[in-house]
Amino acid sequence: MNQIWTIAQTHPVPPCTIVIFGASGDLAARKLLPALYNLEHCGKDAIPPKIAILGFARREMSVEAFRAKAREAITRFSRLKMDDESWRRFAQSLDYLAGLDRPDGFARLKSRLEEIEKERGLPPNRIFYLATPPEAIIETVEKLHAVGLIAPPDTPHFSRIVVEKPIGHDLQSALQIINMMRKYFDETQIFRIDHYLGKESVQNLMVLRFANSIFEDFWNNARIDHVQITVAEEEGLGTRAMYYDGAGALRDMVQNHILQVLALTGMEPPVSLAADAVSDAKVNVLRSLRPLGPGDARKLVVRGQYAAGEMDGKRVPGYLQEEGIRETSRTETFVALKAQVDNWRWSGVPFYLRTGKRLPRRASAIFVQFKRVPEILFNRGVSLPPDVLAIRIQPDEGFSLEVLAKRPGLDLSIQPVRMNLHYSAEFDGASPDAYERLLLDVMAGDHTLFLGARFVRSSWEFVQGILDQWQSDASIPLEPYAAGTWGPKAADDLIRADGREWFAP
Ligand code: BG6
Repeated sequence: MNQIWTIAQTHPVPPCTIVIFGASGDLAARKLLPALYNLEHCGKDAIPPKIAILGFARREMSVEAFRAKAREAITRFSRLKMDDESWRRFAQSLDYLAGLDRPDGFARLKSRLEEIEKERGLPPNRIFYLATPPEAIIETVEKLHAVGLIAPPDTPHFSRIVVEKPIGHDLQSALQIINMMRKYFDETQIFRIDHYLGKESVQNLMVLRFANSIFEDFWNNARIDHVQITVAEEEGLGTRAMYYDGAGALRDMVQNHILQVLALTGMEPPVSLAADAVSDAKVNVLRSLRPLGPGDARKLVVRGQYAAGEMDGKRVPGYLQEEGIRETSRTETFVALKAQVDNWRWSGVPFYLRTGKRLPRRASAIFVQFKRVPEILFNRGVSLPPDVLAIRIQPDEGFSLEVLAKRPGLDLSIQPVRMNLHYSAEFDGASPDAYERLLLDVMAGDHTLFLGARFVRSSWEFVQGILDQWQSDASIPLEPYAAGTWGPKAADDLIRADGREWFAP
């Protein structure tokens, strides 16, 4: 019963240096440094004993100060507790260089890298992780090239570059970034991160669908009424005004995380587990998304912005009162939309998508609602709820199937019951954080969980249809919603118009 089948194993990765551009920023503190520390702490020798992590940023800071800052961030954000022995080993690998914005910054980076490699006996395997704003990608790549830091792909040592979603600001800028990066890097050297792909529960979607026979049989328009994907966040803007106000929920969450989840939910079985095969299957879903025609952004999409409200008994400010936000900002912090996947499998099955900040809790889930049984036996004259499969992405990863059962007793009474699997109860040990998995894959050169250029392009093509209409028609409403609620009423109206309701994740 407890047998385990290991289909693919994590192999030790080669020694390398990871350069974190923007190492004094939020992403490095919250995600990258804690993930690298966790790999050191419990990676079962997954990361090489010899590794260097070079923080590169604008701010002047000594190596000691950078290490102290890293320790503080790890203590605060790491999933594993700070352990002195692991920290000692990890701290030794940390180095820092200031001057990212100086004219000679990249030349100094090159010499510092060469010094580090010499001092530590490391081969020139280099990973350039851009934890900087998306606008900086093009300039950074050009500067790396200018100082000769990009080795061609066919040399014995690797140069790899990692960029974060969203790639670009719209379709045009995304294509520009993709094309420009390809001028200097081979596709095998480029890793585009969407951290949802590194989440255990998202990876498990494929196992659930394709390692079990029962799901695939009813995964189609003959059996499924509709699909919902909700990615709800409790947090507000935080300290990211500069980035977020220019992005908004459509670019920040829908264009990438939500469309990834949609693609994995809706794709055909890939021909193999190879990265390009999975990527083909996912891109085909996006290519089947019905483009939003004129007027559809008003009819099929709801955008909202949180107003002041109450969360956990505390008053929280509205988006426009957040630090760094213009009083006239029209940036959306909530999006709900109805999408149609026009292919053989999904024709006629709507996919309702929604995401927002300052919703009642942090919870992401996929809900698959099945069609009702014919009105012949138990549901004559009464409306019985349909069966629902809920796949919980976070927190409390797992899935449940809600079905109807006879309530014990002399009457014939029917009641919904839930078959529920919680991964935490079923499996020992905590799941690695998405960034641990992804950083390890970059070191190993495995592209399976990264964004392919075609996915980026197709996802922007879909989203661009909405952006264009928002841009050209200012009368499309931006609905306010009180912080701590499930978004604007218009989002409920959107799904109710089809006789359906949102499920609370
Ligand atoms: C990021 C977005 O990609 O994902 C953030 O930029 C968002 O705005 C975050 O808060 C959500 O990630 P998670 O893993 O907490 O669901």
